[in-house]
Amino acid sequence: MSIKITATGEACGARVTGVDLTAPLSGSEVADIRTAWLRHHVLAFSDQAMSDDDLERFTLYFGPFGDDPFIAPIAGREHVIAVKREADEKSPIFAETWHSDWSFQETPPAGTCLMAMTIPPIGGDTLFANQHLALETMPENLRNKLKGKQAVHSARAAYAPDGAYGAADQLKRSMDIRPSADAHGEHLHPIIRAHPETGRKGIFGCVGYIVGFAYEDLASSMSLLGELYEWQTREEFQYRHKWEEDMLVMWDNRSVLHMATGGYAGHVRLLHRTTIGERI
Ligand code: SIN
Repeated sequence: MSIKITATGEACGARVTGVDLTAPLSGSEVADIRTAWLRHHVLAFSDQAMSDDDLERFTLYFGPFGDDPFIAPIAGREHVIAVKREADEKSPIFAETWHSDWSFQETPPAGTCLMAMTIPPIGGDTLFANQHLALETMPENLRNKLKGKQAVHSARAAYAPDGAYGAADQLKRSMDIRPSADAHGEHLHPIIRAHPETGRKGIFGCVGYIVGFAYEDLASSMSLLGELYEWQTREEFQYRHKWEEDMLVMWDNRSVLHMATGGYAGHVRLLHRTTIGERI
C-alpha cells in the first residue's frame, strides 16, 4: 500500500488514501502524512475504524498530547474528549464559532484529531479557513494596521463561569464541559505569526478567544478585530468538510481557523477528539 494525497481543490484540505491507521505506521508513512499536513493544513482519512488506542497512537506520531482544559475526558482516557450531541439536544451547537483550538494557552496546540463515530445523515459539516491565504491576499491597508500587534487571547468569553458555556448554558448538554475561573487567564501571541514548523506567515486566531490587542483600548481593538474577522473568514479562504463515519480528520491549528455547524436536529453526532501539542 502506498500513500496517496489528493487535494480538495479548495482553499485547504486533502484526502489521504493508501494507509491503515488501525495499525502502527512506518517512519516514512508518518513523514508523508506530516508533509501533507503542513502543506494542506487539513487531512481526511476515510474508512478508518479506529479505536481510542489507535487514535492516541496516531496523535503521538505528530507531537505530545496537548492539554485540554474545560472539557472532561471520556471515561478511562486522559487525552480523549467526546464532541457529542444527542438527537433531542437543544443547547447551542458546541464550537459553532470560528476559532483556533486553545489559542489562549501559552503554547497553543499544533493540531487536533477528530475521529467520526456517529455522523448524522444531514448537516454537521466542519468549516475551515486558511489563514496563510487570508494574510497573503490581505489588502495592504488592513495588513499595515495589524503589523507588529500582539493579540490578547483568553478563554473567558467561552469557559469562565459567566461565559457562554457557564451559567448562561442552561439547556441540557451531553458534552462534559467544566467552566472555571481559570478561563480568565490571558496570553499574548502576535496576530501575524510565522508557522513554528514551516515559517510561513499567517493570521493566528480571531475575535472570540482574542479579546483585544495589547496596549490598545477595547473599542479600537474590537473595531480592528471586527474588520479582520470579516476578511479572514471570507468564503474564498474556506473549505467545507463533510463527514463520514469511520473518518479521521487532523488539522493544523497554526494554519487554519475552524468551526462546527448544525443542521442535524433529531440526529446524534459523536466524534472523539485528541489534541496534538507543539513539539518544543
Ligand atoms: C471542534 O471545534 O473541535 C468541533 C468541530 C466540530 O464539531 O465539527
